[in-house]
Amino acid sequence: MEVVIQSSAEELAELAADAIERLLAARADAVLGLATGSSPLVIYDELVRRHQGGRLSFAAARAFLLDEYVHLPPEHPERYCNVIAQAFVDRVDFGAGAVHTPDGNAEDLAGACLDYEAAIEAAGGVDLQLLGIGTDGHIAFNEPGSSLAGRTRIKTLAPQTRVDNARFFGGDADAVPRHCLTQGIGTIMAARHLVLIATGIAKAEAVHHLVEGAVSAMWPATIVQQHPHVSVLIDEAAASRLRLADYYRQVWADKPAWQVL
Ligand code: F6R
Repeated sequence: MEVVIQSSAEELAELAADAIERLLAARADAVLGLATGSSPLVIYDELVRRHQGGRLSFAAARAFLLDEYVHLPPEHPERYCNVIAQAFVDRVDFGAGAVHTPDGNAEDLAGACLDYEAAIEAAGGVDLQLLGIGTDGHIAFNEPGSSLAGRTRIKTLAPQTRVDNARFFGGDADAVPRHCLTQGIGTIMAARHLVLIATGIAKAEAVHHLVEGAVSAMWPATIVQQHPHVSVLIDEAAASRLRLADYYRQVWADKPAWQVL
């Protein structure tokens, strides 16, 4: 696991965008894993800037979202397929049908989850997965207590997550759906490169467990310690509870230029 501490979210976004740019330069039809939530927005803005500058095209790329709320009306602005369209997908040049979300309005939700897993596999798996982290240590919507090996399935959101996400629903936690479809931790761990971004003091405890805690379903993100290629991009506030922060800074400062994320 590589921990990169920078003073601003914009610097972190540049690093994530560099990794995506390198990936697409090597293979234009690479498969990206996209996260919603507020943390990756700065990355999407940077990718859009590079696209507008003619540096980056997503025309041949494919993408899969991590998760989707269950039973929000199709036009609801907080459905994750609509959120990602507005934040990123509609601002660049993905081909029609290239970006996938689990179908939270399917009649057969369990079947939709199986279909989603099959679609990821048919695409050849995810090359680079962007991740945020919840204050309770969730990744995607794998809440504390989730299987560390699970695949895409229906989950019940934790009360803390509904409180955290109330800001997207007019401040009303009761308006946040109770259920979602989410990639499982087993699905996420199958991606070839995980890039997790976390900023702000509210994430400090979760980041502490993620990087330096014991692997436990109580802090589901801790499982990424067992992934062979993880980049944890954090600002000073999110890093404030890391015991080895100075070591991570030194490793980054001494990193050879040729050795990228
Ligand atoms: C969103 C997702 C969630 C968020 C997490 C952090 O697709 O999977 O795990 O990454 O809730 O959200 P923010 O970034 O809004 O703090």
